[in-house]
Formats: sequence, C-alpha cells, structure tokens
Amino acid sequence: QSLSLSGATNDDVGPQDAEILSNFKGYRVYRLQANSTKAFEALVKLHDEGDLDFWQAPSFRGETDIMVNGNQEKELKDFMGFYKIDNSVLIDDLDSLMNGQRLGRLKSDGKAMSWTEYHYMETIFDWLDGLATFYPELVTLHSIGTTTDGNPLKLVKISVGRKDRHKPGIYIDALYHGREWISAAVATWIINELVTAPSRYSTLLKHFDFYIVPIMNPDGYAHSCSYNRLWRKSRKTSGTWADFLGCRGVDLNRNFGFHFGGPGSGTIPCSLIYRGTHAFSEPETSAVRDFIYENRNVKWAAYFALHSYGQKWMTPWYVIRVARIGIAAIESHRGTKFDVGSAPEVLYMASGGSDDWFKGAVGCKYSYTIELPDYGFYGFLLPSWEIIPTANETWFGISTALRSIARQR
Ligand code: ARG
Ligand code: ZN
Repeated sequence: QSLSLSGATNDDVGPQDAEILSNFKGYRVYRLQANSTKAFEALVKLHDEGDLDFWQAPSFRGETDIMVNGNQEKELKDFMGFYKIDNSVLIDDLDSLMNGQRLGRLKSDGKAMSWTEYHYMETIFDWLDGLATFYPELVTLHSIGTTTDGNPLKLVKISVGRKDRHKPGIYIDALYHGREWISAAVATWIINELVTAPSRYSTLLKHFDFYIVPIMNPDGYAHSCSYNRLWRKSRKTSGTWADFLGCRGVDLNRNFGFHFGGPGSGTIPCSLIYRGTHAFSEPETSAVRDFIYENRNVKWAAYFALHSYGQKWMTPWYVIRVARIGIAAIESHRGTKFDVGSAPEVLYMASGGSDDWFKGAVGCKYSYTIELPDYGFYGFLLPSWEIIPTANETWFGISTALRSIARQR
C-alpha cells in the first residue's frame, strides 16, 4: 500500500494483516512534531486516510509517531518536507528490535510465572487458574465473558476478610491493544505482588478490593504473539466487504458506551481505530459492562486502564491532584518522567474509551488511562529486561495514588 496524499482514495484503510512476525525488514518509525495548525491538520488528514500505521496518533502538544516501510518512507519525507514538519527517526531498524522481545516457553503447571520475559496468553491464564487454587482466601477468579475466538476474559479479584462484604473496588485492566505487551506484564506483576506479599499492602487491602483483568483483548494478543507483532485491534470479522480486504477487528477502546462515535474513532472496519457498529457491540466490552452492572453493590473507587507507550498519566481534570501524586512517586523511583493531563491535552481525542465510561457512566471518580514506558525508544517493542523495573515503578505510582485516595475516605 502506498501513501495517499490526496485523500481521494482508500478512505480509512489501515495497514492490514499481510505482515507477519518476521516481516518488518526495512521498516522505520518517524517521530514528527507539527508546529503549525496547517501542518497539524494535514497530519490528522493523513492519519484518517488510514494507509499508515500511526504508533501515536497526531496530537498538537505531543509527538506523532509513524511506522513506514521502504516505499512509504519516501512519500512521508516528501509530505514532511512540504509541510515543514520537524522530524527524526525514532526507530531505525525495527526488525532488529524484535529480538529483545522474548516470549517465555514456560509450560505453566499453574505455579510458574516470571517477569524476565513476556508470556503467551495460555501461560498467563494457567498461572491465574493456579493462583485461585493456591490462594483461595485471597483470590477469586471470574471469567466475565468469552471472545470471538473462544478465549476467556479472566478477572482476578483480590480481597481480604469476609467474602460477603464489599469494600470499595479498584478496577485495573490492561492489554486492550494486542501489541501493548508491557501492559499485561505489569498487570500480572501487580497481581503477583498483591497475592504473594499482602502484608506489604495491608492498608490498601483493608480499604479496597482489587479487580484486575490482565488481558482485555486475548484474541489480539494471541495474534500479536504468533503472527503479527504489531496487531492492535480485536480479531472479529465484520461481515462486510472489508472482510475481503483482510480487515479485521474493533478497537475495543473506542467501543464503550459513553460518547461512543465521537471524534478520534473510525467508522470503517479497516481503520486502526474502528469503533464497531454500536456501543458495546463487542464481547470484550459488553463483558465489562455486564460485570459492572451485576456488581451494583460495589462502589468503584478508582479505575486504571494500562496501555503503552508514551509515559502519560491521563486524567479527568478534577482529579489531577492524585495523578500528580502518582507520577511524582514514579519519578522518585528511578527517574522516569510521566506527562500528566487530560487525554486530548497530552495525547489526542479518542471517543468511546473505557476511562470515560468508568468516569461518566459508572461514576468512578478517579478514572485514569496510563500509557506505560517507554517514551518511544523501543515503543511497543519494550525489551523483556524492562518488565520488572517498569512494573515496580508503575505499581509504586498506582499504590501511592491509592493510599492518598484511601486517606481521604
Ligand atoms: N492510547 C489510548 C488509545 O488510543 C489512549 C486512550 C486515552 N483515553 C481517551 N479517552 N482518549 O486508546
Ligand atoms: Zn492502547
């Protein structure tokens, strides 16, 4: 596919399924900074045409990252030259970075898990099953739904004390987008930390019950692990002409029923940010909605959606104070700096997101989306050796924020 600068053709047709795991030779990622309104608008148009994989969609304040192959690169350079857009090569040799991404070969007996490599969905699910068996006092495992490909949506509840009482709930979920591997690794690390060292978190566990979904998009994750490392959406076919082009999947973070269908979401199945036919049209998102509805007696104290990458803690403006406490804690840990602000401010508009639904429809006051590290050196391809330091600092940030919320109660 070539870069269409006219916008007259190929409306919203995104990079499709043709690329396989080993097939990113000659790909690069550029980082752009539009410094005029005209250049920014041209970038938005280029994004909406959908021929290129934007690793970060255009934002005015922040950076825009675009992946190109050899053919697209020349046209992108012409485009950037024409609009005088500042740019640099963010990732020069994408293919070689894939080597830092070790997928563990652990055959889980339900006990083994590690954070020195990434893991297949099956391994993670086996481990979760094991937790429920080995820590019955602390852990309850729910399957809140089933995906199109028949994979379970597993939710871990971690709770101390009487099971018939409900404490305010902290809801954390990750891996909405297949390629954002670090988010699931951090979520499983947090589960492990709470389950194996509950005494460190007695204050938090006294105040809250934790509900954690480490893989919201199992189908997309499985596809990313085995076929196309950079797959983003779910994997459902749309039953339209788009199926014949090989376009699949819905952007699950555009499918929630709060301001569904607004700016920053795609209408055409081939788009990388395709929102689906209607709010909660997907099994993954409707499972979350139903779980929340079925648990009406739980008061949701905070929500954290874990994504990658970019080091941003996104917040409704009125709870920015707690977000600042979180990012200060993260920075004190090993110096990692996060940007904080509302999503459109630090990133871009994206309607139908889970954060807005938790805030707007569920009434959860502290509702955040966190874009985990890094800042773009590896992007989605964050090496395995970064999992543990990243998980440590992220949990330090989240748990510090939660302690501050607990103190106000
Ligand atoms: N990277 C996330 C996405 O594109 C950011 C979502 C932020 N939330 C929002 N409501 N805009 O899905
Ligand atoms: Zn994401």
